[in-house]
Amino acid sequence: MSGLKNELLRLGFPEEKLGLVRSSYDLIGDIALLEIPSEAKKYSKQIAQAVQNINKHVKVVAVKAGATKGKYRVRKIKVIAGEKRSSTIHRESGCSFKVDLNKAYFSTRLSHERERIALQAAPKERVLVLFAGVGPFAIVTSKKQPMASVTAVELNPAAVKLLKENIVLNKVAGRVVAVKADAKKFCAKKENKAAFDRVVMPLPHSAHEFLSGAIRVLKPKGVIHFYSIGEKRRRSHEKLDVFKKPIVRVSLACKKAKKKCEIVNKRTVLHYSPFEDEVVIDFKAV
Ligand SMILES: C[S@@+](CC[C@H](N)C(=O)[O-])C[C@H]1O[C@@H](n2cnc3c(N)ncnc32)[C@H](O)[C@@H]1O
Repeated sequence: MSGLKNELLRLGFPEEKLGLVRSSYDLIGDIALLEIPSEAKKYSKQIAQAVQNINKHVKVVAVKAGATKGKYRVRKIKVIAGEKRSSTIHRESGCSFKVDLNKAYFSTRLSHERERIALQAAPKERVLVLFAGVGPFAIVTSKKQPMASVTAVELNPAAVKLLKENIVLNKVAGRVVAVKADAKKFCAKKENKAAFDRVVMPLPHSAHEFLSGAIRVLKPKGVIHFYSIGEKRRRSHEKLDVFKKPIVRVSLACKKAKKKCEIVNKRTVLHYSPFEDEVVIDFKAV
């Protein structure tokens, strides 16, 4: 049994209702972020107490209030116990990130992916992180590869403000440059043509709309890390190749740009729903 469920039992939570409680939750800095199904809502206070008892550093317990939505991909949170705030400092891979969950996207679930990309960056590389959010891909890359120069492009003004603060907080000013811009417009600029060795595209639901721009700004031997949602199973439970559609998208974009597509790597990043996974395709357009 999970630590949370054990603690709930210790607090006198009815054993027959334990099935309603999800054992897993996200820890973002000192915020614990839970999903509480509607049938378990009346036990929210008790669940929050149990979370605080087993995580002494947690100062805010919040629930996800709706889906991740809109252009800025923000999922609002609702505080159910502790201090009434949605901002915190989260530590990851030796970096610190100021986040505000009600204003800008942040997920701890991509930490492995950020390390994976960062470890591939070579000295003197020019790395472009499109859809940079508060800066985790860009800043972890710069920390792991201080000789690289990183450009982080983000549209949400609140995220850009946090990104700039995080550049200072992590002492990577000069190595990471924040640009408040639309990714499409940034990639269309004359000076950005064939300017980057590596392009990171962490916007899984719509990154495909930006593929031609990413290919345009890529140097001939460069690599693009394309995040996408792949279908792994139909509602009828028929199994599907989760990489099929993302690879078709990448291949079509290369063809349109009159380039040959070379898939370097593909992997599942996280399970998105019972039918879909988030995947990444690393490819060259030569
Ligand atoms: C899924 S989040 C990823 C954020 C960050 N890379 C991370 O891992 O935490 C996608 C980000 O792309 C930004 N975004 C959406 N459309 C954009 C566009 N056209 N140009 C630049 N940024 C955009 C959103 O505001 C959001 O912060």
